[in-house]
Amino acid sequence: EPVDSFDYVIFGATGDLTMRKLLPALYRRFAEGQVPADSRIVGTARSPLDDEGYRERARQALHEHVRADELIDATVNRFLRMVHYVSLNGAESTGNWEGLKSLLVSNAAADRVRVFYLATAPDLYGDIARNVAEKGLRSESSRIVLEKPIGTDLETARKVNEGVGRYFPEGSIFRIDHYLGKEAVQNIIALRFANPMLERMWDRDSIEYVQITAAETVGLEGRGGYYDGSGALRDMIQNHLLQVLTVVAMERPVSLDADALRDEKVRVLKSLKPLDRDNLRANVARGQYVQGTAGGKPVPAYREELPGETPSNTETFVALKAEIDNARWRGVPFYLRSGKRMPEKLTEVVVQFRAGEPGLFGEARPGSRLVIRVQPNESVTLPLFVKHPGDSFGLDEVDALSRLGEPGRIRYRDSYEGLMLDAVKGSPALFVRKDETEAAWQWVTPILEGWREDENGPDTYEAGTWGPDSARELLRQAGHQWVEDI
Ligand code: BG6
Repeated sequence: EPVDSFDYVIFGATGDLTMRKLLPALYRRFAEGQVPADSRIVGTARSPLDDEGYRERARQALHEHVRADELIDATVNRFLRMVHYVSLNGAESTGNWEGLKSLLVSNAAADRVRVFYLATAPDLYGDIARNVAEKGLRSESSRIVLEKPIGTDLETARKVNEGVGRYFPEGSIFRIDHYLGKEAVQNIIALRFANPMLERMWDRDSIEYVQITAAETVGLEGRGGYYDGSGALRDMIQNHLLQVLTVVAMERPVSLDADALRDEKVRVLKSLKPLDRDNLRANVARGQYVQGTAGGKPVPAYREELPGETPSNTETFVALKAEIDNARWRGVPFYLRSGKRMPEKLTEVVVQFRAGEPGLFGEARPGSRLVIRVQPNESVTLPLFVKHPGDSFGLDEVDALSRLGEPGRIRYRDSYEGLMLDAVKGSPALFVRKDETEAAWQWVTPILEGWREDENGPDTYEAGTWGPDSARELLRQAGHQWVEDI
């Protein structure tokens, strides 16, 4: 069902995110009939382009990032007609704000939903919000979408939130975490709360540990400027992995309303046992890749990929052991890890149930392992032991497998597609509330501080492997193993 006509203003419109994700997402929704053709997408950035110049770039972006069979020339042309461009530095009050304003308030469009999407460096968010407000661009129903990262630690995150909060009420601020846009992450909520069997077993009595992995094969991808100042903890753990963790661990919300859901998520974040310099070594491993292979080809070390081959202590891999200090989870390790240049692109949640009793079938039966594959090939598997056919009481392990959806028939929406239109509809359930971001930073910031004091820097791992040995050691202490070693 189509949404109401809207205007989407993108700051940072010539950037990588806009080209790779935002325009393709809007195009796909348009192609599927969800975006009325009189909506407008207004790109702004500093480059001196006109509408036509920007449309050409947008067209190229679609050709690069949308599958050919989804690209229909006539549809692309109709889509591009919605696209406009205003050359403007959103953080500065000088510039063609009048041009942008007259475009937005012209004709019947003045009171339609207006979304401002900030895909620029986060330290500009406050200034852009101010300019949008002071230049009179807000409408009755405007919303502002903030890309991650919100800040680089707790203090800067608060600054960003305050800066934007001065001009937009919290209810109209949409902090995007695209992992919440992933179908298989949303499905965790259904899996947990629509299956009473699982719901009853979802606690420390039944579960031994949980692993959440987000592995990537790519290295720096020319993003050195951003990434080297960030590292894996800020880039992936603070947001994406902690968000997945909240969905896995939260209590049953009273409803699926945005605030009911987010109240429970923030409780999980606030219950995380603090990690700091005194317990850092025992609970956190960090690594940086050196030369190795990716896709069968030799690849350079992280440091060699950096411009000027500068020495760097930035971590490209983190593994850590988190504990949620509440009645449901006390004592259950949540192992989180994420890294670049791993052997495969894989995001997965592994829930390891406790072992059974020895006896009938020999030794103690190993506990079941529920595997939630977020990407690629979304699926949920839960192996079961059954009797081997025949005379003896031997056992076979069978996989109860569910692909989420039928492969080839259902196209999984890219995570940005749903989220971008949720902002139009004003549905914040899958966006991150202010207190969530800040609670996540509160937990992550002491780790960053501890690292800063630790001259050893990250351990090294060969590109194309599962990270440094310290990541395995982290689990070994507890008699556990990462899933690929089991
Ligand atoms: C982004 C990070 O937020 O997520 C990137 O900045 C990372 O470094 C990306 O590659 C991973 O997203 P996905 O959807 O491909 O798992």
